Amino acid sequence: MKNSVAVNINGLSAFIPAEEVMAAAAKASLHLDTLVNGTGAGSEFLGWVSLPFDIQPDIKKIEACAERLRRLSDTTVVVGIGGSYLGSKAVIEALSDSFGAHLEEPGHQVLFAGQNLCSDYMHELINLLDERNYSIIVISKSGTTTEPAVAFRILKAHLEAKRGKKEAAERIVAITDSSKGALKKVALREGYETFDIPDNVGGRYSVLTAVGLLPVATAGIRIDEFVSGAVHMANLTNRQHNPELNPALVYAAARNLVHNLGKNTEILVNYTPKLHYVAEWWKQLYGESEGKVGKGIFPASVDNTSDLHSMGQYIQEGERNLFETVLSIAATRKKIVIPSTPDNEDNLNFLAGKTLAFVNRSAEQGTREAHIEGGVPNISIEIPELNEFYLGQLLYFFEIACAISGYILGVNPFDQPGVEAYKKKMFSLLGKPE
Ligand code: PA5
Repeated sequence: MKNSVAVNINGLSAFIPAEEVMAAAAKASLHLDTLVNGTGAGSEFLGWVSLPFDIQPDIKKIEACAERLRRLSDTTVVVGIGGSYLGSKAVIEALSDSFGAHLEEPGHQVLFAGQNLCSDYMHELINLLDERNYSIIVISKSGTTTEPAVAFRILKAHLEAKRGKKEAAERIVAITDSSKGALKKVALREGYETFDIPDNVGGRYSVLTAVGLLPVATAGIRIDEFVSGAVHMANLTNRQHNPELNPALVYAAARNLVHNLGKNTEILVNYTPKLHYVAEWWKQLYGESEGKVGKGIFPASVDNTSDLHSMGQYIQEGERNLFETVLSIAATRKKIVIPSTPDNEDNLNFLAGKTLAFVNRSAEQGTREAHIEGGVPNISIEIPELNEFYLGQLLYFFEIACAISGYILGVNPFDQPGVEAYKKKMFSLLGKPE
């Protein structure tokens, strides 16, 4: 049997008895039924639930497009924001060589734009693209979001000036709504290759559509394995009422019980910089899904062990409104052994011969114990290894658990009415015509 991502609640025992968590998880299966039967709030946005299966016929087309972009160019700029960028950024950062861009012969490099409005970022990107042979994947479900639309305007003009209109059009792929929106219109007019975002899949749940998969495949990552991981998790979670066998029920129930103790901030903790953007993706997923009508657990994150030297103080001794969910990876892909030195000047010879992974693991265990003693409940998400298959499992697990958790909380996990408020103010300042 293949291994699975699992949830460990031992770190809650000082705060909530395990039986209580498992009883709440069993009760949460009602919300799982509401989700898979499409009888709850936001049921018009449930296309993502069956995506691990539904996307299978499209994988070859996505891989072929990625292959074409890789042949045509050495760099692809992905233009998108929020759910139209965080999923692919998370997977690419987690699975790519950390220093790939600095190798003498780097593989195909995937860069991002349209996720901010910063002039300096855009200027520096254009400086780099002046020297690069590049393509563009532009992603926007609505086709009207300001940040990516402005970035695409600038980059399209740059690419056309560099390559001519016809060749530029061959290097641009648009991922958007099947019929509506300004981006769809431009794509049709210019003859870009396009992929549709299904109407019933919201941005933050779209990592298993072309939105997530095309940039990931263009970075040279196996999307078939990634989707297989999601299939594995869907088979585990979607029809399983027994909480002993369903990690999504346990996580959703546990975080809500902890919330009821007054812990209104959840910190997603990692011990590898490769998971930094998985946390960013998770923050959007949980923040946008749950933070509404005056409710919600505030999603935060730390990158350890770096942040033990900054946020560690607060987590250990600050206001006691926190709990932690640790992404705990059992095995690293590469092994580094710590050398001994003849003079032992740093007094670290006691670590000689031990692996860096062992030291990191000890930091993780020690921190976990210290934080629990300091009043911070702990949930661990156990990941056998950081690869395509387990990452596919992890992201799908978080999506299912998020939907269940939103229903436990009593919100619609699939809308985001609050994000319109800043847009209205910004457009009025910018003088946008009515
Ligand atoms: O989750 C969401 O719906 C949002 O974060 C969107 O993904 C984000 O606002 C970008 O929207 P669009 O893809 O329409 O440009």
